[in-house]
Amino acid sequence: MKVGRNDPCPCGSGKKYKKCCLVKRQDREQTEDLKSYAARHQIRLKNDEQIEGIRKCGRLALETLDLVEAMLRPGMTTAQIDEFVHEFTIKNGARPAPLNYRGFPKSVCTSVNEVICHGIPGPRVLKDGDIINVDVTPILDGYYADVNKTFFVGTPGPEAKKIVAVARRCLQEGLAMVRAGNTIGDIGWAIQRYAESNGCSVVREFVGHGVGLDFHEPPQVPHYGNRGQGVRLVPGMVFTIEPMINLGGPELEILEDRWTAVTKDGSLSAQFEQTVLVKEKGWESLTPFEL
Ligand code: MF3
Ligand code: CO
Ligand code: CO
Repeated sequence: MKVGRNDPCPCGSGKKYKKCCLVKRQDREQTEDLKSYAARHQIRLKNDEQIEGIRKCGRLALETLDLVEAMLRPGMTTAQIDEFVHEFTIKNGARPAPLNYRGFPKSVCTSVNEVICHGIPGPRVLKDGDIINVDVTPILDGYYADVNKTFFVGTPGPEAKKIVAVARRCLQEGLAMVRAGNTIGDIGWAIQRYAESNGCSVVREFVGHGVGLDFHEPPQVPHYGNRGQGVRLVPGMVFTIEPMINLGGPELEILEDRWTAVTKDGSLSAQFEQTVLVKEKGWESLTPFEL
């Protein structure tokens, strides 16, 4: 026997079927649709337990970054940053994801001035006026959170101030586009528009990425693009937005070490990264810091 929309609900609640279990059924079917949609794109939607794990890992990553910021001074080496991040991560029961990742030799990426990303910590001495991006990814209880900031060493000049301000705002512009129903392309579009309208350029070769159960998961999140293109955002998606913004042209070169990416024209490059969760309504940063 078929239950009509206006019939009393068979569950015995006394409410009409359409106000009771019919809604729940539609919800369930809707959720199933989203799951198969994500699966088609090989995207692993995260459940509440996993989200809490990534959030906790994010808190450790942010604490690490704060302590690195406090230790920065002209005259120190990037190797000292690596030693600190390594020790602090281990001390907190986590592991540094970069170490031995595809052969990366250190526990954190330190990218100074014209270095776009994947700078390898070493004997390089920081000097007054440098900018340095520090990118931290711990693995805590099997969960990954990925976050980075660009800091000033000593007193910044006008170019350093400009590129850091633009990169910071680019992440803000990208985050503002995150909501269920928008697309990956909307994020890149907003970032590219802001960067280029301020005379800066967006690096194409490196992109944001799904994260949480692994270091780099689908989908890719380009920091350029067109509105409405690419994968649609659904609740439970967790990915990074991490625009790399150059003061000059977007072209890059990879150094002999096969990791360090530098701007081809030698211009300054800056970056900010957060790990973000798409919610039913809006979004939440799992590595929240003020932009
Ligand atoms: N943390 C970087 C990112 O944001 C990846 C660094 S890979 C490494 O995706 F091997 F260099 F650590
Ligand atoms: Co990342
Ligand atoms: Co990162």
